[in-house]
Order: sequence, then structure tokens, then C-alpha cells
Amino acid sequence: MNTMKIIESASQASVYVADIKASGQTIGFVPTLGGLHKGHQLLMQKAREENDVTLISLFLNPMQFRKKQFLEYPSDFELDKLIAKEMNVDMIFHPTVEEMYQHVTQIDSFFKFQQQEFTQRHLEHFVVEEKNQHGIDNLIRVPSSLVYQLDGKIHPWFFDASATIVYRLFKILQPNRAYFGEKDIQQLAIITKMAEARFPDIEVVGVPTRRDADNLAFSSRNVLLSAEQRQSALSVYRAIKHGENLIKEGETDADIVLNTMTEIIEAQPLVKIDYIDIVDNKSLESVKRVSDDIILYVAFFLNGIRLTDTIIVKV
Ligand code: PAF
Repeated sequence: MNTMKIIESASQASVYVADIKASGQTIGFVPTLGGLHKGHQLLMQKAREENDVTLISLFLNPMQFRKKQFLEYPSDFELDKLIAKEMNVDMIFHPTVEEMYQHVTQIDSFFKFQQQEFTQRHLEHFVVEEKNQHGIDNLIRVPSSLVYQLDGKIHPWFFDASATIVYRLFKILQPNRAYFGEKDIQQLAIITKMAEARFPDIEVVGVPTRRDADNLAFSSRNVLLSAEQRQSALSVYRAIKHGENLIKEGETDADIVLNTMTEIIEAQPLVKIDYIDIVDNKSLESVKRVSDDIILYVAFFLNGIRLTDTIIVKV
């Protein structure tokens, strides 16, 4: 097993990366919020297989959470280190909030930023905003056509927040390839487009959703579920599989598919649907008629714990 480095400072991480690149080796990068699970392990495995050096980041980005969810996020640095070591990761980048957001003095600034983010924007391209009133500098604004799709309609600020942190991580770590789960399909689409526009040397690789033996998609938040809640959460997987079958059998009316899926999920009293939709696989726009490859997507709550599940259906 290799010796795994843990680096907290961005400048030290850049030096580490520059040395690797100077020696002609390629870098595969897996960004994470911590709380590593088997889904992350698959991303790390891919990075390992396709590159000489594997880096991961463990950074709980406060900007992409509601305050309560940020404070309750389940992560265990010691366990994450063990998992990363087992996966032969070469370096963990583990910065502090101060390191990543030097001009933000209070954690609450991130949560205030979210409250003011509901005004509709009209942006065609990615924009880097130098500094906003909360002290957040180099904020990435995602183009409207990408942000106001799926549950971005409910929390548009989330994708600015995730693009902002990934932008910074890409600048510091300069990977050849970066690995993201297909489960977060809108994030994957946005980061792919951002890399095309701003980091043409970085290849963004989407990795299919990994599921547990009972078919629940791996998520760091699954550990927060009771056995009963977990059982109810499985209704969402049953619903999307049923939706997939209906479409494969020839159903083209999106409303019929969505209504059937909703009925299956709502038969479980513990699950509350936050957002459910059928969107085009490329544009992420909602469809009324299924005529091309689509995505079935559900975001849902179980006693305040927010989870998502999704499936790509090839027509
Ligand atoms: O998908 C995630 O885990 C996060 O959004 C990411 C990409 C690590 C950015 O914080």
C-alpha cells in the first residue's frame, strides 16, 4: 500500500500537483464532501484505473447546504482516511473553510447568501463574480439554461455553490480527469459544461450510480435513516424502475408515467416527494412526450433527510 499524503493548504497542494505533472504522470481526482461510502469507492477505483495518481478532496462546503443540514452532515475524518487508504489514494486534500473562502469571516454568510438567491437570472455563459456582499469571492454563476432545470428550480443557489467549489478545486489540483456520480445528474451536466468552457484540459467522467444490496443508491446521508425509513425510501427505486418499464413498454405520455410513480411513492407515508420529473437526457428540460433518451428523477424527504434517486432511460 502507498503512503497517503494529507494536505490542508491550497498552495502546498498546488506544489504537490506541479511535481506530479512535471514527472509526466496523470492525475485522477474525486471531489467529495466527506462521509465516504461505496459510491465514492467506485469513483476512486475508476480514478485509480485510469490515471497514475489519485487525489480526493474532503471538504464539507457550507455554501451548498442549508444550515441545519450542514450541521448534521455525517462525516468521520478518521473513517474517511481509512477508506481512502484502502482505495490507494495518493493524496487527500482537506482544506478548512478559511482556506477555501478567505474573505468570508462568518459561516452564516453562506446561509444568508442562499436566501437572496431566488431572483431569476438571465445568463448564457458561466460568469465569475468577483465578490458579493457576503464576502464570497470568485463566485461561479451557472448559465440559466442549466440551473433552472430539475430541482434547480427549487434551490438554484445549490449549483452556483457546487460549481464555485469545484472551480476552485480544479484550479488548485489541475487534474487530468475528474470523477462525478451520475446520481447527481444535474451537477454532472453543469460541471461537464463548466470544464468545457473554463478547463478544456480536464476531462469530466460520469460514473453510474452504485446501489446497496437492497437497491438504495449510496449516499452519505443513508446512515441517518432508521430501518423503517430506509425501507420506505426503497419505494422511490421501485417507482423509477416501474417508470422505466412503462417507457420501455411504449408509454410516451410523461404525465401518466409521473402519476404512476407518484402513487407508488406516496403509498409509503414516510416519504415526502420534494421534486419529481422526467427530463431530456441532454438539455435536462422537462418533457411532455418521451421520444428520446430521458432521465427519471426524484428528490424526496424522509423526516427532514433529503435524498435523490435517478435513472437514465435509453429509448
Ligand atoms: O457531489 C458532491 O459530493 C459535491 O457537490 C462536490 C462535487 C464534492 C462539491 O462539493
